Amino acid sequence: MSAGARARSAALLAVAAIVLAGCGDDGGDADSGGSGGGAAPALEGRGPITLATGKDTSGNMQKLVDQWNTDHPDEKVTITELPEAADEQRNQMVQNAQVKSDAFTVLNLDVVWTAEFAANRWIVEMPQDQFDLENFLEPAVETAKYRDKLYAAPVYSDGALLYYRKDLLDKAGVTEAPKTWDEMAAACDKVKALPEGKAMGCYAGQFDKYEGLTCNFSEAVQSAGGEVFGDDGKPNVNTEEAKKGLNFLVDGVKSGEIPKAAVTFQEEPGRRAFQDGQLIFHRQWPYQFALANATDGSSKVAGKFGIAPIPGADGPGVSTLGGHNHAISAFAKNKATALDFIKFFTSEESEKSNLLATSQAPTRANLYDDQELIEKFPYLPTLKDSIENAVPRPAAVKYGDVTAAIQEAAYGAMNGEKSTDDALSELQSKLEELTAE
Ligand code: GLC
Repeated sequence: MSAGARARSAALLAVAAIVLAGCGDDGGDADSGGSGGGAAPALEGRGPITLATGKDTSGNMQKLVDQWNTDHPDEKVTITELPEAADEQRNQMVQNAQVKSDAFTVLNLDVVWTAEFAANRWIVEMPQDQFDLENFLEPAVETAKYRDKLYAAPVYSDGALLYYRKDLLDKAGVTEAPKTWDEMAAACDKVKALPEGKAMGCYAGQFDKYEGLTCNFSEAVQSAGGEVFGDDGKPNVNTEEAKKGLNFLVDGVKSGEIPKAAVTFQEEPGRRAFQDGQLIFHRQWPYQFALANATDGSSKVAGKFGIAPIPGADGPGVSTLGGHNHAISAFAKNKATALDFIKFFTSEESEKSNLLATSQAPTRANLYDDQELIEKFPYLPTLKDSIENAVPRPAAVKYGDVTAAIQEAAYGAMNGEKSTDDALSELQSKLEELTAE
């Protein structure tokens, strides 16, 4: 992790502490004393279990589960598929936990939910000594911890990438991927001057009102030199840099560089637009690489696009840290089976086969330096940089309220319901309230 990213992580842990302090009885406290490092309680029970996960758009998750099931006929795993959007997955997992249901055993948690689930004792502590955490990307491991204890295992990481139509940039005489927003706009103008570029949208990301917008808004702010939360753990969005960041999105919608339809894009609609040839640039997670490169006729852009770091105001931008962790529900039976299954799922072999099948970002660091893999996935070094320099979202126990406030502000400004200045000053007050002691 870079020094900057390390400092940011520390700051975000401070946010977690502040939010927890304001959280009263409903938050609970999973740390029943001690300062971490003690042995986690044993996980017991063997037999069938479930894996609750967001919609698997790759199809490979079932393959890995089938492999496990063949080897463990008495400890079979059944996938329970939840909706595609992160916020809806969270709602279902929270509801399930609130009624203490044993329906979900392993939870495929977005990295931003660990604090909330751990603090509420909805997931159990994991035996840290049974995972070779030193071989995982450090920022990913941090997202699986709460108050120094491990509550999940990092399964997928995620960092933002800029997908661009290399074929069209080449044709328009643009020899390098843009590093700044201005360069990106200039490249768009050139591509749009080509007959085949005329009807294309310049840029899209995830701009619907959901978790993806929190990621994209934070990236815009960070990529203009700003921050959503400062090193002191306090919200800091009423700044010139944050305005510049949000205005990149607001002005993009106004000018049409961000096509109208993109304001409703989550990951999948954006991916479909990109691989249908409708976009010149697309901010997206690594999973898009495999699908957009498919040669079965489902993608019109296979072999035609490149991948670069996301651009920023004055140079390369700064990603939001994404990813998913596997945790074990506190209310589930057969926790010993769940632990073994998670070890299997995060083994080097499973992660490598998953990367080969899906292009999702692994959490095991050595896979990013494997020459054979880099040949197949040339963006791996760019992705590793993206993840290592990414800024985590706040590890807040009341994360649901924090992200809703961010989405409200960004969506309102992008859709012309409020000015950038009003959106950010309102957001600042709201975040201050949510993180006040
Ligand atoms: C990806 C990321 C996740 C993020 C989500 C937003 O799934 O891995 O961390 O919250 O996108 O849509």
